[in-house]
Amino acid sequence: MLQFENLSADIVRAPVLRNICADLPQGSINAVVGRNGAGKTTLLRAIMGLIKLREGRILFDGCDLAGVPDYGRAKLGIGYAPQERVMFPTLSVEENLRLPCQVAGFSKAQVDERLALTLDVVPQLRDMLPRSGAALSGGQGKMAALGRALMIGSRLVLLDEPFQGLAPALATQYSEALKRLQSRVPELCIVITESNGSLLKDVQDRTLHIERGALLPDAAPISTSSSPFIEAYP
Ligand SMILES: Nc1ncnc2c1ncn2[C@@H]1O[C@H](COP(=O)(O)OP(=O)(O)OP(=O)(O)O)[C@@H](O)[C@H]1O
Ligand SMILES: [Mg+2]
Repeated sequence: MLQFENLSADIVRAPVLRNICADLPQGSINAVVGRNGAGKTTLLRAIMGLIKLREGRILFDGCDLAGVPDYGRAKLGIGYAPQERVMFPTLSVEENLRLPCQVAGFSKAQVDERLALTLDVVPQLRDMLPRSGAALSGGQGKMAALGRALMIGSRLVLLDEPFQGLAPALATQYSEALKRLQSRVPELCIVITESNGSLLKDVQDRTLHIERGALLPDAAPISTSSSPFIEAYP
């Protein structure tokens, strides 16, 4: 369903993604694991149309995403929880959840339906709904960011380092929410990045290892040398 064909991208003329090729099927949880600076966030941003590709294509159900403007990703059912969760502080959590669907032009009934599914998958959000987006702890904010990605992400959900910094109890709740999501929406494709693969609690069906902007062949050992990109952009 999501295919990377020889994907390469630069940031300020330095190669950050190199010849990425992968095919992520429907109904799968895919982890992308790599050290800091490996290119995980850049890969997700490329899917979201937030950076320009130098070469290659990203296909979504066979359709080249190059022809879809970045704001059009939501209409395709692609939800994204960025690494830096951003809740609008002047809106309630419920308004924060509803907003992306409203911007994408969903009807009220469709937004209500998405909210019901989201609360079913992440029941911890129920009590947070009336609270201000500014009044959440780091862990609660991660749950809310997951919820917001689910509101839009009916086909594909991209989660950037969701387990980073979560207390163990919340990490367990988060992985339980992902398993519930997989059982409620079995055809959904989920991509989760992590610097530390052991935080993922084996929630994934498959792990892709990324190093210096390139995917390693399956079972290839991960080098212990530091990323040249970290040195280039301290
Ligand atoms: N705005 C930017 N300007 C310059 N370089 C950047 C920029 N964004 C990313 N990079 C560089 O691109 C490379 C990949 O960054 P990216 O954020 O994708 O890594 P990451 O795997 O998500 O790292 P982390 O685990 O720290 O989140 C890094 O070397 C980074 O320094
Ligand atoms: Mg990152």
